[in-house]
Amino acid sequence: MKENRIIEKMIYDGDPGHDDVMAILLAAGNPGIELLGVTTVAGNAPLEMTTRNALITMDIIGADIPVAAGCSTPLVKPLYTAPFVHGESGLDGAKLFEPKRKPLDKHACDFIIDTLMESDGDISIVAAGPLTNVALALRREPEIASRIKQLVIMGGGRFGNITPAAEFNIWSDAEAARIVFESDIPKVMCGLDLTYQAVAVPEIMERIRAIGSRVSEFVCDFMTFYNNNSRRAGKNGAPVNDACCVAYLADKNVFTTRHLRVDIETKGEFSYGMTCIDFFRMNSGKPLLEPNVYVGDKLNFELFWNMMISAIASLG
Ligand code: RIB
Ligand code: CA
Repeated sequence: MKENRIIEKMIYDGDPGHDDVMAILLAAGNPGIELLGVTTVAGNAPLEMTTRNALITMDIIGADIPVAAGCSTPLVKPLYTAPFVHGESGLDGAKLFEPKRKPLDKHACDFIIDTLMESDGDISIVAAGPLTNVALALRREPEIASRIKQLVIMGGGRFGNITPAAEFNIWSDAEAARIVFESDIPKVMCGLDLTYQAVAVPEIMERIRAIGSRVSEFVCDFMTFYNNNSRRAGKNGAPVNDACCVAYLADKNVFTTRHLRVDIETKGEFSYGMTCIDFFRMNSGKPLLEPNVYVGDKLNFELFWNMMISAIASLG
C-alpha cells in the first residue's frame, strides 16, 4: 500500500518493447498506481521474447508482480514483428539475461478474466500492444466489459507508423482492435499524435543518467539503442508511446482529450488497421455515430517526464 492517496489499480497488457518497459517502470514506481500484473502478447517481438523482457524488468526492479503470457499470434493475420525498431530481442541495448522470475502457469486471458471477475470494478487495463489478449478475454468472458474501470489504449492516430494509414498495435491485429473499440468499455486512446510528443530528448536522457542507479543504468542502456534508431531517421529521440497511457491513469492532467467517434478499418487494401477518427462530425445528412473514445490530444511534456523520472528514481 503506497502513501494514503487515490490508488489506481491496473493490469498492463503489452509487448515489451522499449516503450512498454518504460510504461511498466512508471506503473511500478508511481505512488498513485498499483500494478496488479503484466500480461504479454506477441507484437514488437515474438511472445517468448516479450514475456522474457517483462520478467527481466521485474528482476531488475526486484518486484514480485505476476507476469502471464498470452497470445503468440494475432486473431486472423500472421504475426509481423518489429526487429527494425526494437531489435531481435525486443529490448536490444539492454544487458539481457535469463530471468530468475517465471511467468504464471496461467494464460494472460485467464489472468485478466479472473482478476477482473474477483474485483468490484475498480481495475483499469492499459493495453499497449496488439489487442489480441484483450479481445480474446472479452470473447471468453463478456461480463468483464462491465468490470473494467477504464481501458487506456496505446494505438492508432491520424497517421500511421507501419503503413501511411495505420499504427503498429492496431495494424498488427485490426480484428482484435475492432472487437475492443466496439465494446462499451470506457476507453481512452493514446494515438501517435499524442505519443510522438513524449520524446526522450537528450536533456531528458541526461536527467535519467544523473539518477545513477541500477534501474537508471538499465533504462539508459536500452533507451540509447531505441533513441539511436530514431536519430537515424532524423529525429531528436524516440517516443515512449506506451508510458503515456500509464501516466494518464496516475494524473489525468498529463494530457488533454477529445471525446470522438473512432472506428477500426479491417478491410481496406491501403487502410487496414486505420483508426477512423471523426474529428469534424460533418453534416452528412446521415445520423452521426456516437463518440466512443476519449482521444489524447496535447501532452504536458514537463509533467509527463517528471513523473517518468521520479518513478525510475524511486525504483532504486
Ligand atoms: O506504434 C507504437 C506501438 O507499437 C508501441 O506500443 C510499441 O511498443 C509497439 O507495440
Ligand atoms: Ca507496446
